[in-house]
Amino acid sequence: DAAPLIDPFARAISYLRVSVTDRCDFRCVYCMAENMTFLPKADLLTLEELDRMCSAFVRMGVEKLRITGGEPLVRKGIMSFFRAMTRHLQSGALKELTLTTNGSQLVKYAGELAECGVRRINVSLDTLDAQKFAQITRWGRLPQVLDGIAAAQAAGLRVKINAVALKGFNEDEQFSLTEWCAREGHDLTWIEVMPMGDLGNEDRLDQYWSLRDLRARYGERYTLTDLAERSGGPARYVRLEETGQKIGFITPLTHNFCESCNRVRLTCTGELYMCLGQEDMADLRAPLRASANDDVLEAAIRAAIARKPKGHDFDYTRTGIAGQMSRHMSHTGG
Ligand code: GTP
Ligand code: 5AD
Ligand code: SF4
Repeated sequence: DAAPLIDPFARAISYLRVSVTDRCDFRCVYCMAENMTFLPKADLLTLEELDRMCSAFVRMGVEKLRITGGEPLVRKGIMSFFRAMTRHLQSGALKELTLTTNGSQLVKYAGELAECGVRRINVSLDTLDAQKFAQITRWGRLPQVLDGIAAAQAAGLRVKINAVALKGFNEDEQFSLTEWCAREGHDLTWIEVMPMGDLGNEDRLDQYWSLRDLRARYGERYTLTDLAERSGGPARYVRLEETGQKIGFITPLTHNFCESCNRVRLTCTGELYMCLGQEDMADLRAPLRASANDDVLEAAIRAAIARKPKGHDFDYTRTGIAGQMSRHMSHTGG
């Protein structure tokens, strides 16, 4: 196999996030504008190209593949891609194949995902109130997602719920969502809302609810134990001793985790973003298409990793937002 990918800050890149489509059947207000212009389908990597690309990364030491979007399960034929990736699990090169989904298509696909070797999935769910759900996703229906989550569980998949912490929106659901997750056996991770995408209608400072505050509120009700495990990911975890539950916090704003970053992101058009919070990217579609020989592609991947920056510049200052990105989260898959 090829030599592993090490960036200029001695971080080993073992985790690839792959956005397989920029489309989504929802329009979450912090993620998309209501009228989005999506990429022409011809610009997307084909499923075969996605396979070649991911396989190159796996040869170069990527052990974890997370499929994202947009909503990954609205990409036509996506199950054949999952099936193709199963061979890397079977060879032992890939340790984990997983996805982040809005849950809308899980009733249909949970069983097949489990068959492909997916063990855990992340489902985005910010509220358990059907009306609020319709408001935040604009187009989503809560029962469909809850049925999807149930189908995932029935198929033997572990579910992690991602909730974006939104001031004045789900503050009042911190404990009800937590208790529901405890009852259903789901892990729960809160995410600070990040300043990405020109949504036209949003004031991020108004939405921003610091996880420091959220954590303090947990502390008033539960006994918290900090957990050391980091898994190279951005989340920090605490255990609520009263329920035994693990709660994650993803805090790009209040607590930067870039020093241990192990990941890069591939967009559905084959751009490699070395950091979620930076504009720099490398086009990998051209080298992929330039030659059927993967040497060209591998060299392009190495050159890109050699440019991985130290970290992002997101910040909420007293006067506004620093490091705001016009790129949408759905472009790089979160
Ligand atoms: P793991 O794959 O287990 O680390 O899960 P995860 O929580 O990172 O995956 P998920 O797709 O659920 O990501 C949740 C959100 O965390 C993403 O959508 C991003 O908003 C945020 N996130 C993940 N990785 C990064 C990162 O490297 N930098 C920043 N700023 N945010 C990240
Ligand atoms: N800030 C934080 N999280 C976001 N997500 C989408 N947009 C944003 C944003 N601006 C979350 C989704 C999903 C994950 C992939 O990213 O809710 O859980
Ligand atoms: Fe779709 Fe996820 Fe963006 Fe919501 S956050 S619009 S579900 S891609």
